[in-house]
Amino acid sequence: MTHPVAHNLALRDVSKHYGSVAAVDRVSLDVPRGQFLTLLGPSGSGKTTLLMIIAGFVEPTAGDVLVDDARITHLPPEKRNFGMVFQGYALFPHLTVFDNVAFPLKVRGVPRADAADWIRGALDLVQLVPLADRYPRQLSGGQQQRVALARALVFTPDILLLDQRAADGEEHCAVWVLFERGERRTEGRGTADGARPCRKGPARRG
Ligand SMILES: Nc1ncnc2c1ncn2[C@@H]1O[C@H](COP(=O)(O)OP(=O)(O)OP(=O)(O)O)[C@@H](O)[C@H]1O
Ligand SMILES: [Mg+2]
Repeated sequence: MTHPVAHNLALRDVSKHYGSVAAVDRVSLDVPRGQFLTLLGPSGSGKTTLLMIIAGFVEPTAGDVLVDDARITHLPPEKRNFGMVFQGYALFPHLTVFDNVAFPLKVRGVPRADAADWIRGALDLVQLVPLADRYPRQLSGGQQQRVALARALVFTPDILLLDQRAADGEEHCAVWVLFERGERRTEGRGTADGARPCRKGPARRG
């Protein structure tokens, strides 16, 4: 018996070539809402490139990225409402913890008065409120990772992309689809770009 699949995120024949290097070669996949997918592969196999294409930081050479059948292949990252924890975290060294987490709200045009609450919510989620005024160089590796997570969650993304090393040292990355159908339209305050305040914990979202 076959069931119709309610697609959320879909990749269709996505490729990325750098000259003669095929970083990603005709990848197709579907991730239904509320599910997560882990991609495992050796170094250089294209995991980061694929996540960067989903997030919108890298344009594919061919193929399409779709959400609910809408083509978002060429939409800029700040219009996608996807959070990403980058490999190595990519924190801004000259910005405090607070300002690192504030950054995605700034590029999304969230008013300052709202942003302060959202940032505190995200920092509270990762238990970093007391370290809000520190710079990345003053943090442990795990604390830096939690700043990166807060920065990815602060605008309550529809999809969370994690480019991370597995506990056993094997490189992996995950595409984590957070929201059930309709939730985005019915909860929270919103901006024109769909950004909303961080609530406490994906695990509590039912
Ligand atoms: N900007 C670029 N220019 C040229 N080649 C690139 C570029 N970015 C990535 N590549 C190449 O594309 C391939 C895939 O790289 P990618 O970073 O996606 O791999 P990965 O699976 O994330 O590796 P790792 O596990 O080491 O993080 C590699 O061969 C890499 O050298
Ligand atoms: Mg990588």
